[in-house]
Amino acid sequence: MSERITGTIERINGSLIVGKFEQEAKMGDLVEVGNLKLMGEIVRLREEIAYIQCYESTSGLKPGEPVVDIGTPLVAELGPGIMGQIVDGVQRSEMELWELTGPFISRGANISPLNRKKKWNFEPTVKAGDKVVGGDIIGTVQETEMFVHKILVPPDLEGTIKTLTGGVYTVTDTVGVLETDSGEIDLKMMQTWPVRVGRPIKERLTLSQPLITGQRVIDTFFPCAKGGASAVPGGFGTGKTVILQQIAKWSDADIIVYIGCGERGNEMADVVEQFPEIEDPKSGKKLIERTIIVANVSNMAVSAREASIYMGITIGEYFRDQGYDVALMADSTSRWAEALRDISGRLEEIPAEAGFPAYLADRIAEIYERAGRVEILGSEQNYGSLTLLGAVSPPGGDYSEPVTTTTLRFIGTFWALDSQLAYRRHFPAINWLRSFTRYLEVAARWWSEFDPSWERTRALALRVLEEAAEIEETARIIGEKALPDDQRLVLLVAEMLREGFLVQSAFHEIDRFCSPEKQVALLKIFTDFYNSTRPLIEQGVPIDQIRELDVIREIMRLKEREGEEPIKDARSTMNVQISALAKQYEVNSQ
Ligand SMILES: Nc1ncnc2c1ncn2[C@@H]1O[C@H](COP(=O)(O)OP(=O)(O)OP(=O)(O)O)[C@@H](O)[C@H]1O
Ligand SMILES: [Mg+2]
Repeated sequence: MSERITGTIERINGSLIVGKFEQEAKMGDLVEVGNLKLMGEIVRLREEIAYIQCYESTSGLKPGEPVVDIGTPLVAELGPGIMGQIVDGVQRSEMELWELTGPFISRGANISPLNRKKKWNFEPTVKAGDKVVGGDIIGTVQETEMFVHKILVPPDLEGTIKTLTGGVYTVTDTVGVLETDSGEIDLKMMQTWPVRVGRPIKERLTLSQPLITGQRVIDTFFPCAKGGASAVPGGFGTGKTVILQQIAKWSDADIIVYIGCGERGNEMADVVEQFPEIEDPKSGKKLIERTIIVANVSNMAVSAREASIYMGITIGEYFRDQGYDVALMADSTSRWAEALRDISGRLEEIPAEAGFPAYLADRIAEIYERAGRVEILGSEQNYGSLTLLGAVSPPGGDYSEPVTTTTLRFIGTFWALDSQLAYRRHFPAINWLRSFTRYLEVAARWWSEFDPSWERTRALALRVLEEAAEIEETARIIGEKALPDDQRLVLLVAEMLREGFLVQSAFHEIDRFCSPEKQVALLKIFTDFYNSTRPLIEQGVPIDQIRELDVIREIMRLKEREGEEPIKDARSTMNVQISALAKQYEVNSQ
C-alpha cells in the first residue's frame, strides 16, 4: 500500500471539501475527511490543493480538521458474499446499515463491503504445479443454491500454483500460493478492482444472441442483444421501473445487477424491502439469490449516487468474467447525470447544455461502452456478456433534453415510453413508432429457428401498425366511416395487434411472460388474419362484416391463455369463419 499523504481542511462547500495536502495527492484517490473519517474522493487537483467530494453529509466539519489520502481509488470488493447483497454506491451493505440505523444512516459507519467473518466452502479446480493466468478459475464456492461463484486469478497475475487447499475459509484467508516472476503471492477468494476502470478482456465479440425478456413488444419488435445496451426513456409514471423489473425477473440472463439511483428515500425503501421478496420464476426461489442491488438512500451525498453506476458495472463485469450472461439495470441514469451536474456545479466548471458539464457525453459513452459480449481472460476460450439497460427520466417527458439525446448515440435499443399510452393504460407504454433497435439482424437469425418467416411476419405487423398511424391522421379529419374499406381493415388489424399483442400486463398470471414460441405463433395469427381478409375486401366484402367475425375476440384473448391448443383452435375457427364469409359473399353476388 502506498504512503498516506496527509493535510488539513481549508474550505467546506456542501459535500465538496477543499483540502491542502503536504505533498501532491492523487486524482481519484479516496480520502478520509475530518475527525469523523468520512469517506470522500479527490475529483480535482491543483498541486497540493485537492477538491474532495464527500460520500456523506459534511455538516459539523470544520476547517483545520485532518484529511488523509488513503492511497487507493474507489474499488469494488469482489468475492463470495456479494450475491444477494444490497449495497450503496460505495458498496456499504444497506442491510447492515439499515439494521444499525434505519433509513437515516449514521455518518462514518465503517462496514466492510464483503463480510470478513463468514466462511465459505472453497473447492479447488486446479492443483499445485498448474500454470495459471489472469482470469483462470482456481476453484468454486456454492454461494447460493442456484449460484456457483467461480474464484478467478486476478486479471493482472500469472504464475504457477505452489499450493492450493480446499476447505472452509473467509474471503481474506489465504487459500493457496502463486509463484510469479516477481515472487510468491497469497491467493485469496476476494479480489478488488477500481470501479472507474473496465475490467480487462481478451476480445470484444460481435453480438450474436438476443436477450429474451418474455415481453412481446420488446422481443418481437425492438429486441435487445446479450451484451447490448438499451435505453428506456419515459416521463413520470410511464412504466420504466416495471419494465426493468420485468426484465430482471423474466429475461434469460444468469445474473442481475440492479442499480437504483432513486432520489426519493421511500422509493429506495421499496427496493430494499420488496426486491428480496420477488420470486424467481425460473427456480421458484427468490430472485435475490442471483441479484445484486446497488441502491442509494435519499440522504446519501450526490457523489455516492454518481459512483453507484460504476460500482454496479464493475460487479457486473466480475460475473461476466466468470462466464455468465449478466443483465444490469440502472433506474434511472438521469439521477446519475444530475449528480454529475451537481458535482460539476460545486467545482464551478463552465456548464454546457441544461447545466450539465461538457463532458456528459464522454461519461455516458464510457458507461455504455462497458456493455458487451466478450472473450474473457483465462487460458481457455470462454465467453461472457454484460447487457446494460438504462432508464432515462427526461424532465417533463421531453426527449430533446441532453441526457436522452446523448444516450441515444451510444445504445442499440431505444424503448420510447409514451405518456399518452400510459394514460390510456396501454402497458408496456413502449411507443412502436418512436422506438428502434439496431440488433434486428442478431435477433432475426435466432428467431428464424422457430420460424423461417419471422422477419417477414414481423415486418408486416410493424407495417400495419405504421400505416394505421397515418390512416388515423386522415380519419381524424374525415371520420373513420369515410375511409375506403382496405384502410379500415388496416385500422382493424392494428387495433387487434395493439390490444392482443402489444399490450401485456406485468401483473397477469399468464400474460406477464410470453415464451418465444408463443410470441411467434401469436404474431402469425394476426398477420394471417390480415392476409386472408385482405382478398375479401378486394372481392367487395364490406369491412363491417369482417369486423363482426366472432374469432376476432377469440384471437385477442389468446395472449391470456396457456399452451398451444387455444392458438391452434383459434386458427381453425378463423379459417372456417373466413371461408364461410367468402362463400356467402360469392353466392350473394351471383
Ligand atoms: N407492464 C405493465 N403492466 C401493467 N401495469 C403497468 C405496466 N407498466 C406500468 N404499469 C403501471 O404503471 C405504474 C407506474 O409504473 P412505474 O412505476 O414503472 O413507472 P415509472 O416510469 O418507473 O415511474 P417514476 O417516474 O415514478 O419512476 C405501475 O404502478 C403500474 O400500475
Ligand atoms: Mg420508476
